[in-house]
Amino acid sequence: MAKTKAVAPAPVTFEQGAHCPIAHITWTGAPRAAMSGHAMLDELRHAGPIVEIPYLSTKFYMVTQHDVALEVAQNAKLFPQQVHDMETGERVPYTFIPQMLNGAEHATWRRLLASYFAPGKINAIDDRIRDRAAELVKGLVDKGECDFVQDFALRFPTSVFLGMMGLPVDQLDMMLGWETDILHPDEPDPMVARDKAQAAQGAVTQYFAGMIAERRAMAPETRPAGIATEALDWQIDGRQVTDQELLQFYLLMFMAGLDTVTAELTYGFAHLANNPEDRQRLVDDPGIVDRVTEELLRAYPIVNIPREVSEDTVIAGCPVKAGSFVVVSLPSTGRDEKQHDDPLNIDFDRETKSHLTFGAGPHRCLGSHLARHELTIAYEEWHKVIPNYWVPEGYEATESTGGMMALTSLPLRWKA
Ligand code: HEM
Repeated sequence: MAKTKAVAPAPVTFEQGAHCPIAHITWTGAPRAAMSGHAMLDELRHAGPIVEIPYLSTKFYMVTQHDVALEVAQNAKLFPQQVHDMETGERVPYTFIPQMLNGAEHATWRRLLASYFAPGKINAIDDRIRDRAAELVKGLVDKGECDFVQDFALRFPTSVFLGMMGLPVDQLDMMLGWETDILHPDEPDPMVARDKAQAAQGAVTQYFAGMIAERRAMAPETRPAGIATEALDWQIDGRQVTDQELLQFYLLMFMAGLDTVTAELTYGFAHLANNPEDRQRLVDDPGIVDRVTEELLRAYPIVNIPREVSEDTVIAGCPVKAGSFVVVSLPSTGRDEKQHDDPLNIDFDRETKSHLTFGAGPHRCLGSHLARHELTIAYEEWHKVIPNYWVPEGYEATESTGGMMALTSLPLRWKA
């Protein structure tokens, strides 16, 4: 059982608003000291369950506490899923399927997709997932060191994703480049970061559009197996799915399937590297791995989920106007003292209380079963081969914040 190290929060200043605190923060852009984003969220949460955040030329609200977050996530009519551009405050001009759909249209897609992520489907590919994790660890063990983010956390879920989708594995490095530019551009200037992300998004879109056209042109029996091919024949409400919808679905899968597990692994392994007693418990008793996965998920949620207010309302005493942008900070809810006793303590024996790491309500993560398998298998396969490792002395890890929180690098060493 280990307490997470106290870290100075990224800068935040407060002023008292008419109805809720107003916080001045930098939310996206340059990487910051690891966990300083979380420490900043602690300050926001301690200031109140909802804070107003003026940002660039616009503003948004952030929900910080578990019970209010749950209420907002479950009330999809009042708080539909909608992403705003942080610079302009306008709605973004794209729709990822199913995450950015709402209402009946969203429910139809969920029904279609549910079977692809059902436990039986995921259990059936467990061996493949395990082989991939074992192969990556085997390739690293003799080196005695690695950058965990680049050499494992990014590569592992990405290759599982390529396998599920039926995309060529030799495209892994290209995908990783796009993924980094879209989700964690290593750029101090938020505007340059935005341009980089848009260019990479354009490249991924072009890649998937080309792939759809190519596969449609192939005789059905010659198309590679996997979701990307099966999707060509999907029916929605009795009609054939359009190529535009397929594109929007592939793009969401690309974002949701890759970066999430990567980000979660970076925090989990940083904790185990920095807390040898917790790591040793797992090594000595691999049977506790499910509890390790769950407690690390509870303590390190990574997604800040976007919502728009559909009509004037009040959230936790704070009036918010229709059209306002609300970010529900799930990483903050995992550290909420009102929901979890001594939340900064990682305790594998903790009595399980519900956490919001996979969200709640109609958009709750479709891939949670797959994610739990990937994480558990990664913890198992790594510790079978590399049980003792550490972060080199003097190294300061960094994290990026925004829609997704993740460590941007994590050097690890061990005796080869
Ligand atoms: C540790 C890993 C993961 C975490 C923490 C996570 C978290 C989340 C969260 C919080 C949401 C809700 C978003 C919202 O309410 O706006 C979500 C949605 C979603 N996730 Fe995950 N996710 C993970 C892994 C995955 C994986 C591996 C896949 C699939 C390959 C996946 C597929 C999806 C999809 C399709 C949605 C949209 C569901 C909908 O809108 O109906 N996720 N995820």
